[in-house]
Amino acid sequence: MMAPPVGGGDGEAASGSGGEGPEGRPFLEGERVLLVDRKGRRNLVRLKSGRAYQSHSGVIEHDRLIGLPEGSEVEALTRDSDRRNPAKYLAIRPTLADVVLNMPRGAQVIYPKDLGSILIAADVFPGCRVLEAGVGSGALSMTLLRAGALVTGYEMREDFAERARENVAAALPREPALPPEAPFPSARYVVEIRDVYDGIDGVFDRVVLDLPEPWRVVGHAEGALVPGGILCAYLPSINQTAELRAALARSRFGLPETFETLRRTWHIEGRSVRPDLRMVGHTGFITTSRLLGERVSFRPSDEAQDEGAEGPDG
Ligand SMILES: C[S@@+](CC[C@H](N)C(=O)[O-])C[C@H]1O[C@@H](n2cnc3c(N)ncnc32)[C@H](O)[C@@H]1O
Repeated sequence: MMAPPVGGGDGEAASGSGGEGPEGRPFLEGERVLLVDRKGRRNLVRLKSGRAYQSHSGVIEHDRLIGLPEGSEVEALTRDSDRRNPAKYLAIRPTLADVVLNMPRGAQVIYPKDLGSILIAADVFPGCRVLEAGVGSGALSMTLLRAGALVTGYEMREDFAERARENVAAALPREPALPPEAPFPSARYVVEIRDVYDGIDGVFDRVVLDLPEPWRVVGHAEGALVPGGILCAYLPSINQTAELRAALARSRFGLPETFETLRRTWHIEGRSVRPDLRMVGHTGFITTSRLLGERVSFRPSDEAQDEGAEGPDG
């Protein structure tokens, strides 16, 4: 299949993937595009007709990107352009991790490696009712929403709540595979300006916390979670984590677990195959625990886990 005419330029300044395979979905006005240069530098751009992305090596008018199939190459043009060697960019849609690392922030966001771990540790599923506090810049909110959760956020600061709402709306466009009348994911998101240490209203399947004193929420979570529900807390230090674990041990929660996620990338180029020299050494500890029914008379120990006794089903 031939690539359609692209970019509104002279046809040399942009090229699709060519070949016989499926074509990339064209970029629409209002969407975010990630422009990646030869050195792998990433620039997040929101498309608006009439605007231009200005890099140190030239200009890319948004109108050349709108309608361009994802995965295409675009050239940055300069007035006195050296057309033999123009700067080239790859145009792709950003992943959620790209958005989280490049979006405007108020509070410190949770790193993508931990966001992924939290989704599994808290076992978030489509339709899951999640109480999240505090919402900060909205990185965790958008991750929960993208997994299909219904998220109620508690945030103390009005300015952070507003930033989180904006970030979520910008990061989560309507799913392209869904009909146009399908609601935006942000329709499943409510942020209330309130202190979660004062209490939680409503019934939830999960309580997910990223704030300094989650042990002050344990009692409220006991009253808000369904039995079997999961409390998940993200904390930067092990002293805080120990304090949370002590509060959980005094509560109706059981099956506590604490872990951290280390992500080590590798350099793979020809015969040079080794771990990358730099890595993010520490971000945070993730603790989960499950609410037990009121009549449960014992707390399962974690002995079996320590022995590696988790076997296949049955
Ligand atoms: C580290 S940030 C959360 C970042 C967020 N998880 C993200 O990924 O963008 C911590 C947030 O908790 C909020 N916060 C602290 N104590 C709170 C409380 N008691 N109730 C509600 N929000 C609280 C802070 O205002 C801040 O926005």
